Amino acid sequence: MCGIFAYLNYLEPRTRQEILECLIKGLQRLEYRGYDSAGVAIDADVEGKQIEIIRRSGKVKMLEDTIWSRQDLDLEQSFNSHVGIAHTRWATHGAPSEKNSHPQRSDLTNEFVVVHNGILTNYKDIKQFLIKKDHEFESDTDTEVIGKLLKHIHDNHPELTFRELVEQVIQQLEGAFALVCKSKKYPGQCVATRRGSPLLVGIKSKTHLATDYIPVMFSKDTDKRTKSEHRPRQPSTLSSNIKRSDTTQFCPLGEDKEVEYFFASDASAVIEHTNRVIFLEDDDVAAVSDGNLTIHRMKRTIDDTTSREIITLKMEIQQIMKGNYSSFMQKEIFEQPESVINTMRGRVNFDTEIVILGGIKDYIPEIKRCRRLLLIGCGTSYHSAIATRQILEELTELPVMVELASDFLDRNTPIFRDDVCFFISQSGETADTLMALRYCRMRGALIVGITNTVGSSICRESHCGVHINAGPEIGVASTKAYTSQFISLIMFALVMCDDRISMQPRRSEIIQGLRALPEQIKKVLELDEQVYDLAQKMYQQKSLLVMGRGYNSATCLEGALKIKELTYMHSEGIISGELKHGPLALVDKAMPVIMIVTRDPVYPKCMNALQQVTARDGRPVIICEKDDTETQKHAYLSLEVPHNVDCLQGILTVIPLQLLSYHIAVLRGCNVDCPRNLAKSVTVE
Ligand code: F6R
Repeated sequence: MCGIFAYLNYLEPRTRQEILECLIKGLQRLEYRGYDSAGVAIDADVEGKQIEIIRRSGKVKMLEDTIWSRQDLDLEQSFNSHVGIAHTRWATHGAPSEKNSHPQRSDLTNEFVVVHNGILTNYKDIKQFLIKKDHEFESDTDTEVIGKLLKHIHDNHPELTFRELVEQVIQQLEGAFALVCKSKKYPGQCVATRRGSPLLVGIKSKTHLATDYIPVMFSKDTDKRTKSEHRPRQPSTLSSNIKRSDTTQFCPLGEDKEVEYFFASDASAVIEHTNRVIFLEDDDVAAVSDGNLTIHRMKRTIDDTTSREIITLKMEIQQIMKGNYSSFMQKEIFEQPESVINTMRGRVNFDTEIVILGGIKDYIPEIKRCRRLLLIGCGTSYHSAIATRQILEELTELPVMVELASDFLDRNTPIFRDDVCFFISQSGETADTLMALRYCRMRGALIVGITNTVGSSICRESHCGVHINAGPEIGVASTKAYTSQFISLIMFALVMCDDRISMQPRRSEIIQGLRALPEQIKKVLELDEQVYDLAQKMYQQKSLLVMGRGYNSATCLEGALKIKELTYMHSEGIISGELKHGPLALVDKAMPVIMIVTRDPVYPKCMNALQQVTARDGRPVIICEKDDTETQKHAYLSLEVPHNVDCLQGILTVIPLQLLSYHIAVLRGCNVDCPRNLAKSVTVE
């Protein structure tokens, strides 16, 4: 949902070519967040007295081609210090076009330029105000008001520092934003801030950083501090990917040292430059001036810490490269034998059958006493909740509600202090899920985050949680995160019943099922060619139904979602108990139907559904267990997956559907990693 990137080099000379290469590379890494249009703003002269904006609608490649075709850019010109800002857009306000691309500007002279991720809810009021003050608007975006407001306040208060100016502006803004601002009035300086949208600062210095923390400066200390809730936040939660530093010195980065700063929406854009990052908190204002980074806040509240830690990321550059795969999605599908191991690593002991989730273990007694569990998420993350609800109900003996975050909020669902609410999100930034989290947190519920992104908002705003450790997921369609979310929730269910003697045989069966999973996933991936053949038979169809029930209900919904989002074919996941209540009317000889039929307690009912389909001349493709010849007799075609325990079977049955959606998309000429109209991290409601 828009990617922001900025690069500042201080006393570290860089040519214009190097600066542009760095900005373009940063945008390429963030392109999965939005790919409607892209742009950069750089200095037009060595003093930074003029700013050049280059924008293009379309993908980052189009911008790159435009930049390198510009004969008038002196690519050899060297800058001792320079600030470049860049943006890749997923349109919200204003259609994808050059004029609506970012950076947006204050005026025709490019006095202030800004890149923004998020949505301003009060931009119309600000725009009205600015129009009355004779500002002329060029775009349909909400972002443009920021540039114009910067200029308006600066013209009236030229004494303000750049940081103070940005602080004045953000006090007027409502909604969500992450911003990076640049100005020819403040050459060599850069100010960045966030509220609701993610933003981090990467720091690279040849000399050892003089500190592991950046102190936070406050404009006003308030005495009337209020504590909103009774539960402490567990700082180490979800941080298994982070090496924490021992030093606790509080001093700024050394002065007059060469340093480079990177501002980015996520770590994948900075990791090839540095692994030292600070995740900004909401309302932090980070400013770089004379090579020094300061972090400032307007007001102090009880929850505010007095410093921001410079974290060392463990992420490797290879993790965000495609390697030999044709797309990130394909790579991520094939990574699943390892990603599921990483999810279980250090948590499940297959010999002693002990399961420990460090991020929530202190909260388990409280969770066991709760009134009910709520699992809340969107899209694929929501499906992982559906996939595990039944086993959670069985092993926790608690009522389990599964909720779509948006619908949950629309209904103002009653929430109580003794509820435990799980927020499942690969990105950890999905606005609907984050809003639902805040809603539940305000009502006193215990908040458990299940995320894949260290330092994300959901991770930071949860009381405790489980990091799914699937590794960076770049393909817009979620694949390996789904299977890792699935396993994380299963591990939680196992922890909840570890002291229940009556449940030990069931626990043991599931733990041994988990042990077998990585090898079994490899076997499923060997179906790739068979799935490709199937894709060739199906790719020209208009519609596709995916049916199953019980533990495979979620597989149908998830498979259908993958197919529709990647191939733009209509596809529907049907819980087969509902077949005779309507969807059966769709079935005939021509309608492609995929049915998931595994040997679990609902097998006889799945067979009924199968009969209902074949009786209407339907020709089902069946995903079934290996050697289940009985079921295969009814199939037009079949795909066999290994047998595992019922509650884990959904991990094996979903993978052929991930592969199928991938192959159909390629055959239909669709961009697998960047499906039209979508973005990876949906930071608007
Ligand atoms: C589908 C897909 C989306 C996301 C949804 C939630 O393939 O990726 O449905 O699952 O947008 O995103 P996260 O998990 O980041 O909250």
